[in-house]
Amino acid sequence: MANVTDWAFRKIVAKCGRPDVFYTEFLSCDGIVYDKTRFEKELYFEKSEKPIVVQFFGSKPENFYKCAQLAVELGFDGIDINMGCPDRSVEKQGAGAALIKNNKLAQKIIKETKRGAGNLPVSVKTRLGYNKIETKEWVSTLLEMKPAALIIHGRTRKEMSSVPAHWDEISLAKELAKDTQTLIVGNGDVVDLNDARQKAKDYNLDGIMVGRGIFANPWFFNEKVDIGEIKPEQRIELMLEHIDNFLKLWSEGKNFDVMKKFFKVYISGWEGAKELRTKLMTTKNAKQVSDILNHPGPLL
Ligand SMILES: Cc1cc2nc3c(=O)[nH]c(=O)nc-3n(C[C@H](O)[C@H](O)[C@H](O)COP(=O)(O)O)c2cc1C
Repeated sequence: MANVTDWAFRKIVAKCGRPDVFYTEFLSCDGIVYDKTRFEKELYFEKSEKPIVVQFFGSKPENFYKCAQLAVELGFDGIDINMGCPDRSVEKQGAGAALIKNNKLAQKIIKETKRGAGNLPVSVKTRLGYNKIETKEWVSTLLEMKPAALIIHGRTRKEMSSVPAHWDEISLAKELAKDTQTLIVGNGDVVDLNDARQKAKDYNLDGIMVGRGIFANPWFFNEKVDIGEIKPEQRIELMLEHIDNFLKLWSEGKNFDVMKKFFKVYISGWEGAKELRTKLMTTKNAKQVSDILNHPGPLL
């Protein structure tokens, strides 16, 4: 997830209980080809995060080819192509969800990514259609290119995130892929590990991708942890560790507001959390956060 799953946060998730596979934020192929030194931090990972897949977005097949080669060079375990992002600035480039409307280009991008990827698996993350559900047509188009996996967010581009994910359609994708080697991974509204397992079973899927669920519970992937048992002190300590990672990775390179988006992940679930969060949201840097936490309210 953009501005979320960088090394700073993945390290926290790995500590709490890691998923089977990590994914990076989506990264611009054009940007990387233009100047890859600008993406060193986004492309940074540690061995302990493996297996880790890098996700790229763009619309130029030749740039996907070059980025795939770079992914091999950097030691990633797989490459994912974003064909689902509804962001205007992404779609304006003909990338993300715009590729759902451009089958030929989408296929060419997969082909070139695979060519650059050598033995690395190449997957596509996408939606069920653009303005309307067209699972059969769109998924069949993608399957022709024999991707290692399709990760299907169970909504159309038009639906954004405003309706519940259509898991029955994700199941249809699995049906379409049944005589192929392509794995089908479902995505959309998964709330906890039990929910993930149940959906994989109910819809006969090869895997589940989790996005926003991690915001509600950084211990999402750890079945031994009951989030209700986690003490406020533990959450605060984890947040401070995240801030520390954030500063190590970005130093002054990213606005501190990006980090503030995570406060709710850590500062919630106890009486007084909201008040503390409100105070923390006024901060402009890590120093101010630590000043507030050194003058704790009654609950800390
Ligand atoms: C803050 C944020 C950033 C996201 N960034 C990406 C991204 O970089 N690449 C991507 O494929 N999807 C991205 N998504 C979409 C999610 O991966 C996912 O498809 C969507 O949120 C639905 O799944 P969920 O209900 O598990 O969150 C993002 C979502 C959010 C909320």
